Formats: sequence, C-alpha cells, structure tokens
Amino acid sequence: NNMMEAFVGEKGIQEEEIAAIAAEIEDAEKAMVAKRANGGMDWRDLPYNQDQVVEDILEYAAWAKEEFDAFVVLGIGGSALGPIALQQALNHPYYNELSKEKRGGWPKFYVADNVDPERLVYLFQTIDPARTLFNVTSKSGGTSETMSQFMIIKSMLEEQLGKEEAAKHIVCTTDAEKGNLRPICDQEGYKSFVIPAGVGGRFSELTPVGLLPAAMTGIDIKELLAGAAFMDEQCKEEDTYRNIGHMYGILSYLAMKQGKNIQVMMPYADSLKYMADWFAQLWAESLGKKYNNDGQEVFAGQTPVKALGVTDQHSQVQLYAEGPFDKMIVFLGVDQYREEIVIPKIYGEIPSLGFLGGASHSQLIQTEQMATEYALLKAGKMNMTLTVPQVNAFTMGELLYLFEVATAFAGELLQINAFDQPGVEGGKNATYAMFGRPGYEDVKKELDSRPEA
Ligand code: PA5
Repeated sequence: NNMMEAFVGEKGIQEEEIAAIAAEIEDAEKAMVAKRANGGMDWRDLPYNQDQVVEDILEYAAWAKEEFDAFVVLGIGGSALGPIALQQALNHPYYNELSKEKRGGWPKFYVADNVDPERLVYLFQTIDPARTLFNVTSKSGGTSETMSQFMIIKSMLEEQLGKEEAAKHIVCTTDAEKGNLRPICDQEGYKSFVIPAGVGGRFSELTPVGLLPAAMTGIDIKELLAGAAFMDEQCKEEDTYRNIGHMYGILSYLAMKQGKNIQVMMPYADSLKYMADWFAQLWAESLGKKYNNDGQEVFAGQTPVKALGVTDQHSQVQLYAEGPFDKMIVFLGVDQYREEIVIPKIYGEIPSLGFLGGASHSQLIQTEQMATEYALLKAGKMNMTLTVPQVNAFTMGELLYLFEVATAFAGELLQINAFDQPGVEGGKNATYAMFGRPGYEDVKKELDSRPEA
C-alpha cells in the first residue's frame, strides 16, 4: 500500500503506471518461464531436485558433528553471506558462546570471509585446528580471497596433523568440473559437494553452499527447502497482483524509473539483520549493470542499504523521513518473536516512563515499526512491509526464494542480465594481474599505464 500514490501521495506509484507497463510485465513473465525451462534459472528448481544432496549432507554432518568442535566457512560474497544470514536468523545469537550441549552438540560456527590478515590470525587464536572442519566454498574455484585462505589452512593443517589427517579437516563446495578447486579436491581426496553448473554464486544459498553450513549447526535444511518450494508456488501465480515475487520486482522497477536509486532494507529483528546483508549483494550485483541486453548503456541498478529496526531509527530514519525522495524502504517484520520479555511495572509515578510498565518488548518493537512506517507515510516516502509469521527455517526458505525471484524479475524488466557480474570480474582480474598471474599480462600493461596518483 505505502508504495502507491493513493497512500503515500504524489511521490508514490500510480495504479496506471503498473497498467502502462503491462506489456513489459508480460514479456518479463514469459522470459522467466522460458529461462526456467531452458536451464537459464536452475536456482529455481533447487527446492525440488536435491533429495540425494540433502541426504548426503545430513549423513556427512552427522559424522562431522562427532569429530569437530568448530566449523569454518572459507568463502566470500555469495559463498559467505548466505551462510552468515541463516546462522544469524536461525541459531541462538550467542551460539558460539553456548556450551556444546546447548548447541545441540553441533560445532561452533565461523566464516573467514575477508582477507584482512588480522581476522584469520585471530581466528587461529580462537579455534583448535585439530578439532576444526574447514569448508572451502568457491563456485569458480579461483577467487583469490578464498583460495589464499585455503592455501594457508591446508599448509597449516598438514604441518600440524600430517597430510592424511589434514585431508579429513577439509570439505570443498565447488563446481562439478570447472575451476581449480575441483581437481585439487579430487587429488587430495577431500570430501566435496557440488554447486550445480547453472547456479551462480549469489543464487547458490539453497545449494550445498548454504545447506552444508546450515546443517552443520543443526538447522533443518529440509524445512528450508520446503519454504522455498512454497514460495515458488506463490511466485507462479498468474495474477500479477497476487504474485509477491513479481510485484516486488515491479514496484522496485517503477520506483527506479522515478529516480528512487536506493532501496533500504530494514528488518525489525536482530535475527534478520544479515538477511538484509545477503539481499544487498543479490540486489546490487544482479541489477547494477552498465549495459542492457541490447548492448546499450543503461547504468541500471538501485543501491541497497542495510538498516536495522529499531536501532537505525536513532541514526538513519531522520534522513529517510526528511531527506531526499531518492529511496524506497522495505520493512521486514515478524508477527511472533521466538522469545518474549515484559517491562516491569515500575516508575508509575513518572508518567513519561510508567507508560512502558507491563508492555512487552515485542509490543514495543512492533509499535515502533508501525510508527516508523506511519512517519514515512506522512512524509510521502515510499515504503513496503513484508511480514513473516515467525523466523524459522521454513520462512527463511521463503524469504531467500522470494528475494531471488524479485531480483530476477526486476532484471527482466530492466532488460539486463541479472546473472553475470562483469564489474566484479574486472576487479578480480586486476588483482590477478597485479600479482603477476599468468594470462593477465594485458590487464597488467593496462594497469601500469594508468595515470599516477
Ligand atoms: O555472485 C557471485 O557470483 C559472486 O559474488 C561470488 O559469489 C563471489 O565473487 C565468490 O565467488 P566464488 O564462489 O567463485 O569464489
């Protein structure tokens, strides 16, 4: 509602604008169906075609649970953000600080992610490598950050434990054939899982990229996939107004056309904070494109911003309410929080405090969410709200899938390729060149000829 002019005023979207792009919507719908049928969107079938993969993961996780006290993901971008998002959403916020028993016997969970040297060194000071399982995750098998971490850890493990034992501490998730990691896994005898060829990094959370780390911390991965399958049904709905994935894409697209170059995602739940992080990569990397499908310069995209309710009410909401009309805000709400806490009825004699007594924190956070929505509505700022009944594996599967469909649909409307990332590859290639990787001599020459700072 609050995206529409009828609610938010003249800066909102008019019903007629949706009608005016009916042909574009139809083309986008057809393209989605065709791509799915032709193998151009293999991520859409992940909820259905992984029974054996799930069994393998569960069997491996049951073994690893007994062998290890810590599980470390070595990955970045699409190979890291999803595992972090699910861990934060579905496990105890202080998961690693709980006793093993309270963790259900599952190992502690870490994601190495960056190549800031401090981070890895401090990680080594925290874990016992002899009791740790390292999950090297890379679709391309060539990403410098991930592979450099792998090289450091492999050498360290072999030095400490010997080659044979070290091999049990490494599990790979990568393409079945392509890239450096696959042959390394095979030669070294590492256990490995496959990222299906047609599924790109940021769309891979429902492959072993996300399923293995989730299973290793006791998350119900069957429920996750069941939630995704349920959302797939919603996103097949032919009536556009009832198709949540398509409508998300349409509203965002129309907002972009109006110059709303920013999309703020603001969950009102700590558990969903990193879901906004995961979404940011998906939205930014998929839609931020210089060229459209016809090779014309379009400079498409919408900058995703992560915010947290209510925390960021006290930092960013001032800007959202009174600043420029350059953004749309997406609230993520929760109907029923998994825990509750009631504010004691004290300070009744101080009316400006006493009114809180007897209320619960879920009432407070939900009321503040509603109040922020209302403030933005009054200020004429486009916003929409997605509410999950509860944060659980099923609803997280739904959300992941919804955002993927919305992103793909927005990509179709923008007529860009949502599944490549030439801008990211450019940076990767420049790094290879500067490190003297063979085959990147021309890039190196170009780099060396750049104006001096
Ligand atoms: O979405 C993408 O393709 C990227 O963000 C990748 O996930 C990221 O660059 C890591 O790549 P890889 O999994 O090949 O190591």
